[in-house]
Amino acid sequence: MKKLMIFSLLAFVCVLTASAQSIYDFKVKDGAGQEVSLSDYKGKLLLIVNTATRCGFTPQYKDLEAIYEKYHGEGLEILDFPCNQFGQQAPGSFQEIHQFCTANYDIHFPQFDKIEVNGDNAHPLYVWLKGGEDIKWNFTKFLISRDGKILRRYEPRDKMSDVEADVQIEVNPVLSNIMARRSVRKYIDKPVEHEKLEVIVRAGINAPSGMNRQPWIVRVVEDQKLIADVTEVYKKANAEQVSRDKDFKNMFRNAPNLICVCTPSNGGGELDAGLLGENMMLAAQAMGLGTCCLGGPVRWLNSTADAKFFLDRLDIPEGYKLNYILAIGYPDEQPEAKPRDASKVKYIK
Ligand SMILES: Cc1cc2nc3c(=O)[nH]c(=O)nc-3n(C[C@H](O)[C@H](O)[C@H](O)COP(=O)(O)O)c2cc1C
Repeated sequence: MKKLMIFSLLAFVCVLTASAQSIYDFKVKDGAGQEVSLSDYKGKLLLIVNTATRCGFTPQYKDLEAIYEKYHGEGLEILDFPCNQFGQQAPGSFQEIHQFCTANYDIHFPQFDKIEVNGDNAHPLYVWLKGGEDIKWNFTKFLISRDGKILRRYEPRDKMSDVEADVQIEVNPVLSNIMARRSVRKYIDKPVEHEKLEVIVRAGINAPSGMNRQPWIVRVVEDQKLIADVTEVYKKANAEQVSRDKDFKNMFRNAPNLICVCTPSNGGGELDAGLLGENMMLAAQAMGLGTCCLGGPVRWLNSTADAKFFLDRLDIPEGYKLNYILAIGYPDEQPEAKPRDASKVKYIK
């Protein structure tokens, strides 16, 4: 009986955790003890911070208020959760804390009731935010995208200018689209609608080119059989590698459609073609589609006699060669961001 009860309790906890998969499922309490659903903040960019009034980091309230004033109008909300778990540096009632913050830092963002962020009594919102890595101190921050994804965690010592730069990017739809793009290598079985491909190509050919020469040729493959047929040739030549990949659908990272970009055979035009490609990838991203720039399959196509029928079907004019292929489709994965090396950048002042 006891075992059964423990099992039922465990099952119940599992159901609870599984059902709270989105930040909008959580409820918090405001200063008056009233329940607030975080679904009220759907569509907003959120900066969630655990605060304390007697901490060395408390002056960060000044920066937080400055960021709030600048970006609130563009959709930023800062959610402030006072927490007394770090050096007991947030003593006092909610009222006392709130009075201190308004008097000293003139804060205008919502301040919620005190909560615990670590340990057995940690608020479920924080259990979700932390994902296993405890909060180290006051003024840890989480940036949440407009569609509820955790974009970044900042430790208390992380520069507020970094937080502001990320906020500036994320409130701007063009910049956040640029930052959200990833190479997608898993797609659902659904070809992209022809009309959408046309919009994407339009965005592509709007890219700048040297003297507006537009030295590229673009071929959009919607013929599923053509993709399947060339994949059969690839499979024969790479049987072992293909058999190891249980998700293998085709040689173009499993995408249902391809945008093939050609440049002059005797060189040149690559820069222009690259700009065209990035425009198309960002347009696709903005339309809920995923892409992956592919060089590997192009080298294989250009060097495999049995695959010539594929290139023939592309109807590439004399004097041009296939340069790269964009795989495109509806994503079936949400890849993590790959690291970027900011040390390669220098500002010459
Ligand atoms: C010119 C070029 C060729 C690429 N070729 C391939 C490829 O053959 N196969 C592949 O899976 N990804 C390919 N990629 C994608 C890169 O691996 C990817 O852009 C890079 O790892 C950074 O990841 P991200 O695009 O998700 O930010 C290529 C990208 C470029 C720009």
